[in-house]
Amino acid sequence: MSTILSVKNLNKIYAGGFQALKNINLDIRKGEIFALLGPNGAGKTTLISAICGIVNPTSGQILVNDHDINENFRLTRTLIGLVPQELSVETFEPVWDTVNFSRGLFGMAPNRKHIESILKKLTLWDKRNNRIMTLSGGMKRRVMIAKALSHEPQLLFLDEPTAGVDVELRKDMWNQVKELKDMGVTIILTTHYIDEAEEMADRIGVINKGEIIVTENKRKLMQKFGRKKLTLDLNEPFNAIPDQLTRWDLSLNDDGTQMSYTYDSSKEDNGISELLAELSLAGISYKDVHTKQSSLEEIFIQLVHAS
Ligand SMILES: Nc1ncnc2c1ncn2[C@@H]1O[C@H](COP(=O)(O)OP(=O)(O)OP(=O)(O)O)[C@@H](O)[C@H]1O
Ligand SMILES: [Mg+2]
Repeated sequence: MSTILSVKNLNKIYAGGFQALKNINLDIRKGEIFALLGPNGAGKTTLISAICGIVNPTSGQILVNDHDINENFRLTRTLIGLVPQELSVETFEPVWDTVNFSRGLFGMAPNRKHIESILKKLTLWDKRNNRIMTLSGGMKRRVMIAKALSHEPQLLFLDEPTAGVDVELRKDMWNQVKELKDMGVTIILTTHYIDEAEEMADRIGVINKGEIIVTENKRKLMQKFGRKKLTLDLNEPFNAIPDQLTRWDLSLNDDGTQMSYTYDSSKEDNGISELLAELSLAGISYKDVHTKQSSLEEIFIQLVHAS
């Protein structure tokens, strides 16, 4: 698969001396949805702003479709759409005019059909003549998305696209993002809703304190770092884990009716059959068994704490 964006050895030290990005290296493949996760202040917006030419990097290189953004700023900027984290849409302008004007800013010829289709896709068509300042927060965010799509970018950045958007609308937006992917747009999004990344992303990057600590295919990430928990509903409650079983990673719930075994789901030999044989030797019986895979949220917390 070809690379649409390549970030090489990127550093950003802000004027006050704070280093927000530390030697970032990142390649984004054409057509993927990449979710960038990280706690507040990790550097997500700084990285996106550097790629979009809003923040000047201290050192390093950024290539969009193999063009250096410094040498070919106008061209590369036209290939990019940005929905910023901070909304700046308190305007008297109607929705249609704002979105249409935005297309012109990128030197694109007017295209009413295109603007109409994105407004319909984002369910803003009924609001096309409304002044933006009269819209709700979630609608304003969708206007920002429409603006970012107005010039038909190949690479779309969504910085916290669903912050302040209600649950139902979030699901709608997930579908819209997937539709954009189907249309061939490459998408990089940041989010604090891990379920959003779990639902949408092909690949996940985790950034912490200005450093990318992992980039991995979502499924592989969940296999690699995921732990599984096997829980047995015991026939007789226990006060403590029996002595002969202390070599296993076992825990009891509060009333001693459930015993859980946590194991590494990526290992071929997870020890389950051996454990169950030992339980039977120890005379421990159970009436039900369930397993649970750790969520992306648990993996994320584990990764950020370890770095
Ligand atoms: N203009 C600036 N001048 C100085 N420091 C800045 C500036 N902008 C951001 N920072 C600092 O850089 C760090 C990264 O900020 P950034 O906005 O990139 O984080 P983020 O990952 O987007 O966080 P959030 O999840 O809260 O949006 C923070 O410590 C922030 O205080
Ligand atoms: Mg941010």
